[in-house]
Amino acid sequence: MSYHGIRLATSGHTAVITISRPSALNALNSAVIDELSEALAEVQADKDCRALIITGEGEKAFVAGADISEMRDLGPDEAADFARRGQAVFRAIEELPIPAIAAVNGYALGGGCELALACDIRIASENARFAQPETGLGIIPGFGGSVRLPATVGRARAAYLILTGRQVNAADALAMGLVSEVTPRESLTARAHEIAAELAARSPVALAHAKRAMATCAEAYEREALEFGRCFETGDPKEGMSAFLERRRPGYAR
Ligand code: CAA
Repeated sequence: MSYHGIRLATSGHTAVITISRPSALNALNSAVIDELSEALAEVQADKDCRALIITGEGEKAFVAGADISEMRDLGPDEAADFARRGQAVFRAIEELPIPAIAAVNGYALGGGCELALACDIRIASENARFAQPETGLGIIPGFGGSVRLPATVGRARAAYLILTGRQVNAADALAMGLVSEVTPRESLTARAHEIAAELAARSPVALAHAKRAMATCAEAYEREALEFGRCFETGDPKEGMSAFLERRRPGYAR
């Protein structure tokens, strides 16, 4: 299978998916989401593959979120479906029988932070920055962040991040348990491969069962998709996302 917005490579027992849309800081449009889904199916079918690394192309971004230009004009039902589609692909990462490692090499914002959260282990380079900026765009996290962020860092920290949209740097992300390790940028890939090799030496059966035992609850995602869709019953998403694309501050009425 050939891909355009991602790259899939394997080395030994490790598969590496690189989100590769550098002109938009690796933002996830529908085409990239579909390719990610295909690549995950390929990884799952490869019986030699014992660990997956997900990273972003370039020096600046892991993934800068879902594609804002694609979401701006959605209606409520389309928006809920957009969230369900992203959720399903990210849940496929959670449901992979092999461990997934996010190697976060820069901005992990919105859907990018959610992509990292869907992985089992997150490591970050020193220049990584994390945020859920959605409420500033008139929307909410729609790719599982409302479920996985509280499960990862606790409700209080998740509420702080989701409601304020503030960015945290790699050191703060480490302190709050959002990532497990921080490395210099130049060692990030090597460190991700080292962890993958460590995992590949463990019992694949036990790893798969451990992942299943930690799985998150399906119902919570549907609630997120519905709330995501409801944001689009108002003009706020259009205002927030137009403001981003036009490089101005949004104005919201109460
Ligand atoms: N969607 C679409 N395009 C994006 C994008 C996104 N999420 N993030 C960046 N881009 C594009 C920019 O529009 C710009 O394109 P042009 O060169 O064609 O104008 C290009 O990538 C480079 O971005 P900037 O010029 O903005 O770069 P910067 O260095 O000034 O800022 C940044 C970097 C802080 C990451 C900034 O780009 C940014 O804030 N991006 C948006 C982050 C965001 O809000 N993400 C959440 C999206 S909503 C979401 O993800 C919902 C969900 O849960 C499903």
